Amino acid sequence: MQKVITIDGPSGSGKGTVAKILSQKLGWNLLDSGALYRLVAFGALKHGIALDDEPALSEFALKLDVKFVLQEGSELLIPVFEGEDVAKQIRTEECGAAASKVAALNPVRDALLDRQRAFATDAGLIADGRDMGTVVFPDAPVKIYLNASAEERAERRYNQLKLSGESVSIAAILNEIRTRDERDMNREVAPLKPADDAIEIDSTSLTIDQVVARISEALSNVG
Ligand code: C5P
Repeated sequence: MQKVITIDGPSGSGKGTVAKILSQKLGWNLLDSGALYRLVAFGALKHGIALDDEPALSEFALKLDVKFVLQEGSELLIPVFEGEDVAKQIRTEECGAAASKVAALNPVRDALLDRQRAFATDAGLIADGRDMGTVVFPDAPVKIYLNASAEERAERRYNQLKLSGESVSIAAILNEIRTRDERDMNREVAPLKPADDAIEIDSTSLTIDQVVARISEALSNVG
């Protein structure tokens, strides 16, 4: 049996935090697939590649020069892109919106497929994204679809951005979340949706610990 847990869901559902905790708790690897799409978008903006130039973007995605390295003194994985730590730069709202545009292009998704699958080793993998259970790891024994109301997600994002010193209004974030959901759920390729065999969890009124406990229980039921 593949040692893979997929966690899909919209932005702000808590999947990134939950995926990190589970990977530390189980000692399994972590794939933050959103970071790959963000890196393609970031690189495109940096190198002046238009966000709708499919051939150039897919070639860029295929050759993406990134390493995920453990930050000294913490268990955080830092994306080192073209030799530079870009952990902060790829987390901006601008980069998220651009990522969702390049992620709607099939050749870009294809170009990132093998790179994502290579994360699944005998060590085990927690795969966080939008299509982990539906496309990238369809045989994963535990698939989670984590959701929360758009308002709750906007509030969480607002608090996160405030902590990192970005000043954005809640209304603007809610608007951005709705636009991004709309694009991610309605695109033709790999739209955001629960896999048929996914366990759906609504985290609106759950703590992170409660979500982690539910996923751990699902894992113990299959293993
Ligand atoms: O999860 P994160 O917000 O970092 O993802 C940024 C964007 O990348 C998402 O809005 C989505 O459009 C895209 N994405 C995707 N498939 C994934 C992960 C992210 O299309 N597996």
